Amino acid sequence: MRECRVGRRAAPCEEERGAPPARLALPCGSRVDAPAPSSMNYRHAFHAGNFADVLKHVVLARVLAHLCDKPTPFRVIDTHAGAALYDLAGPEASRTGEWRDGIGRLLGATIPPDIAALLAPYLDVVAPLCSGGAPRYPGSPLLALRLMRPQDRLTACELVPAAAAALAHVLGRDARAKAVAIDGWLALKAYVPPKERRGLVLVDPPFERSDEFSHLAHGIVNAVRKWPTGVYVIWYPVKERRGPDAFVDALAAAGIAKLLRVEIDVGGDDEVLRACGLVLINPPWRVADEFAVLLDWLVPVLARGGGAKSRLDQIAVR
Ligand SMILES: C[S@@+](CC[C@H](N)C(=O)[O-])C[C@H]1O[C@@H](n2cnc3c(N)ncnc32)[C@H](O)[C@@H]1O
Repeated sequence: MRECRVGRRAAPCEEERGAPPARLALPCGSRVDAPAPSSMNYRHAFHAGNFADVLKHVVLARVLAHLCDKPTPFRVIDTHAGAALYDLAGPEASRTGEWRDGIGRLLGATIPPDIAALLAPYLDVVAPLCSGGAPRYPGSPLLALRLMRPQDRLTACELVPAAAAALAHVLGRDARAKAVAIDGWLALKAYVPPKERRGLVLVDPPFERSDEFSHLAHGIVNAVRKWPTGVYVIWYPVKERRGPDAFVDALAAAGIAKLLRVEIDVGGDDEVLRACGLVLINPPWRVADEFAVLLDWLVPVLARGGGAKSRLDQIAVR
């Protein structure tokens, strides 16, 4: 089941522009500080290739496919890039087995031709890595790099030293890519706008801190002010509605006009993450229609239990 709607939100008057709505306390004017790497526990290797990665990476691949429609170069800025390549037979992925209900389901499914065409950029990269005796799953920076052309550039940021080292190793000597061991929130300030003035910012933080939605809104609003025409793709977990909804409200209240929200809930057990979403700012114009088709197919394929559903909102600011 898919909920699909066009939301309407009041545009802010000029003096309100950038002011956070009352429901979301933004640290206005303050720096967005990162916790010290030693206090960060999140390791993506446990979750690589799960349903959340599938949704995020399918969306990322569709956006990149559209960016490739024009010959002019673009830049991808991945603020929380991770290790770039994950061993699905390794101890972390084996312990959770999450990938089996994510990319594992897709690879075992019969895919109709219209869906196969939309999934091709994603699966052309992922399927060869996942199959064989040593299955691996690509993270966002490797997926992006494989979908980019010679004229495009990638800046991939990761703060945790082990993941940053792995990232640098995987991106290797590809002259199109730069791995930077830096706080992703600082990267958002430092690297936006890119000199190409065309491209995509992926923001995929670990959501370890209770105020992550506030930090997201603050960082994104500032970045969009500096680079209003960039495409932004922001991932978030859905554990309750208040945080994600306040996040979208904060973006709309800051005058960000072209917003698309895509969510999937795979149903089943509330004890583990069952729903997540992405907000796209300035999405390529055809992706909303594409996501509608993809979601209708993905939901039953990824469903873990009762209540599986998706949601697609185009949020237009009046
Ligand atoms: C959800 S994972 C990223 C997954 C990756 N984007 C992908 O799709 O394959 C989040 C990553 O952010 C890293 N991280 C945590 N805090 C960070 C920060 N302040 N700046 C940059 N990276 C950070 C974590 O170590 C982790 O690798």
